[in-house]
This record gives sequence, C-alpha cells and structure tokens, in this order.
Amino acid sequence: MAVELNINGRTERIEAPPEMPLLWALRDELGLVGTKFGCGAGLCGACTVHLDGAAVRACQTAIGDVGPSKIVTIEAIGDTDIGARLQQAWLALDVMQCGYCQAGQIMSAAALLNTKPAPDETDIDDAMAGNLCRCGTYTRIRAAILKAAE
Ligand code: FES
Repeated sequence: MAVELNINGRTERIEAPPEMPLLWALRDELGLVGTKFGCGAGLCGACTVHLDGAAVRACQTAIGDVGPSKIVTIEAIGDTDIGARLQQAWLALDVMQCGYCQAGQIMSAAALLNTKPAPDETDIDDAMAGNLCRCGTYTRIRAAILKAAE
C-alpha cells in the first residue's frame, strides 16, 4: 500500500503497510538517519520528530495515522529560526558527548520553544523529561535551551 507523507516540506510516497512505524519509514525507506533508534518502545526520546510542530515519538507513530500533518526531522529543523538558534546554542555550549540522543533532544527543545518562547528551568525539565541521555548532558541541555531562548 502507498502512504504519502509530508516530510521536511516534500511529499514522499512510501510503499509500506500503514502500521509501519514512522521511524522505520524515515530511516529505512527515506534514508533520513538523523532520527535515531534508541529503545523502539517509546521510552527514550531518541526518535523524536515534529508533527505539526509538536514533539512525537517516531517509533510509536504509525505512518498510516500521520495523514496530512507536516513532519519535520532533525535534518530540517535548522531551517527554522528556533531550530537554528538551538543548534547554535548546542555548539556554543558544547552540549554533545556521544551525541546519540541529541537529535531527539533538539527536536523536543524546539517543540518546547514553539509553544513557550521564554521557558524557565522547570518548563525545560518538564518538557525534556522524556528524552534520556546516557552521558548525562542534562545540565548543558538546559543551559543551551535557555541560551537559545534569549
Ligand atoms: Fe522511540 Fe526510544 S526509540 S522512544
């Protein structure tokens, strides 16, 4: 079955069952491997992408349920003002360690700034609670979000 998805401003047509997780479609069908597979069970946040500006877990989102919603992945988040500011803050504060979770972290941070342009630390901790980082970069992530929001 063919499923049409609006991804990073382009219409992509995928021959796949509608129950296929969006994460599989992004990585295996479209080569958008910036979105990471962490747990595959909705627990880690590594696969976070945007659906109409809101953070969702691509491993828990069936492509057949996406409809006309606009998907944005880490490959295109830098084209938005908020995404560009976050990426600059991430680099300025040297947030990354191993880097594996950071695409998901930035996507969750961008979703937060989409709805709350000047978050406080509690807002940030609440919004980022579902994104795990095994290197423990949480303090730098929080600082980078505050910097991006300046
Ligand atoms: Fe989707 Fe962990 S890979 S939440």
